[in-house]
Amino acid sequence: MKAPVKLNNSFFPKWLKFIMPMSEDPTSLEVFFEGTEEFIADHSTAISTLKFGDTFKTTSAGRHSEANNFVKQYLKDTSKRADILDLGASNGVTSLDLIELLGDCLDRYYVTDLNLKVWMTRHENWLIFFDSFNKPILKASKYFVVYNDPMDSSSFITSRIRKTFESINSRNLTKEEILLIDPRLEKLSRSNDKISFSEHNIFDFWDKSTPNVVKVSNILNRAYFSDDLIKSAIQQIKNYVEDGALIVFSRNDAAMEKVSTFIKKGKSLIAHESLNGGVEIVDLID
Ligand SMILES: C[S@@+](CC[C@H](N)C(=O)[O-])C[C@H]1O[C@@H](n2cnc3c(N)ncnc32)[C@H](O)[C@@H]1O
Repeated sequence: MKAPVKLNNSFFPKWLKFIMPMSEDPTSLEVFFEGTEEFIADHSTAISTLKFGDTFKTTSAGRHSEANNFVKQYLKDTSKRADILDLGASNGVTSLDLIELLGDCLDRYYVTDLNLKVWMTRHENWLIFFDSFNKPILKASKYFVVYNDPMDSSSFITSRIRKTFESINSRNLTKEEILLIDPRLEKLSRSNDKISFSEHNIFDFWDKSTPNVVKVSNILNRAYFSDDLIKSAIQQIKNYVEDGALIVFSRNDAAMEKVSTFIKKGKSLIAHESLNGGVEIVDLID
C-alpha cells in the first residue's frame, strides 16, 4: 500500500526519501489559478502526482518511443493516414510525441482520458484537489502531499487523515477548474483542428470516429483492473475500430518499454508484433 502522506520534494532534501516517502510537487499546477497560459516546465511531473480512484496520472514525454515507432511503421506499410484514438492518455504529453513523429500523415488525433479535469482550491496553507464528483483526492502544502486514500488501516495517522478530508466542506469552497492537458499540446490544438481532447471511459463505446489506430498505454494493467474488466475494455475497442486497425498495447516497466500490437480482423484481434516480451495481458486479448 502506498503511504498516504509524503514529503514535498520541492522543500526537503532528496536524501530524506530514504527515511520517509517523498512526492513530486503538485502545487506548481497552481499557476493555472490565474487563468494564465504560463508554461510549467514539467507539467507531466506535477500531473503524475494526481491519483483518481486507483490510478495515478503518471506520464512523461518520450516514454512511448517504441510504441510510437510501431504506429509509424504500420501507417507506412498500409499507406494509411492516421485516425488515432489514444485511451487513458493522461495530460497527452506522449500523444504530443506521436503527433510530432507522424507529421503530415495525421488526419485525426483524439487524446482521451477518464480524468481530464481537476478542481482546485486554496484553504489555509493547503492546495486541495477535487475530482469531478466533488471529492477531495489530494491536498498539498509546501511541506506535505497527502492522499485521500480509502484504507483498511485503523492507525491513528490514517484516521486523522480521513477525518481532515471529511471535514473539508466541498460545497462551500470556491474552486477553479483546471484542464489536465500539457500546455504545449493545448496550444498546438488551437491552431490544429486535427487534435481534440475528450473525456472518455475505456469501458465505453467510442462514437466520435472509426479509428484505424488505438493506443492503450499503461492503463490496461492487472494492477488496476481485474481480468474480466480488461477483457470487457478490449471487447469494446473491437466494437468500434475499423477492420485492419492497429491496436497498440504498451507498458513501461522499470526502464523497459514492453509493446504488443494487434490487427483487427473480423471479430478478432490478431497478434502482430511484440517487443521486450510484450505486455502482461496478452493472454486476455483475442
Ligand atoms: C498511468 S496513466 C498512463 C498515461 C499515459 N497513457 C502514459 O502511458 O504515459 C493511466 C491513465 O489512465 C486514466 N484512466 C484511469 N481509468 C480510466 C478509464 N476507465 N478510462 C480511461 N482512462 C482511465 C488515468 O486518469 C490516467 O491518466
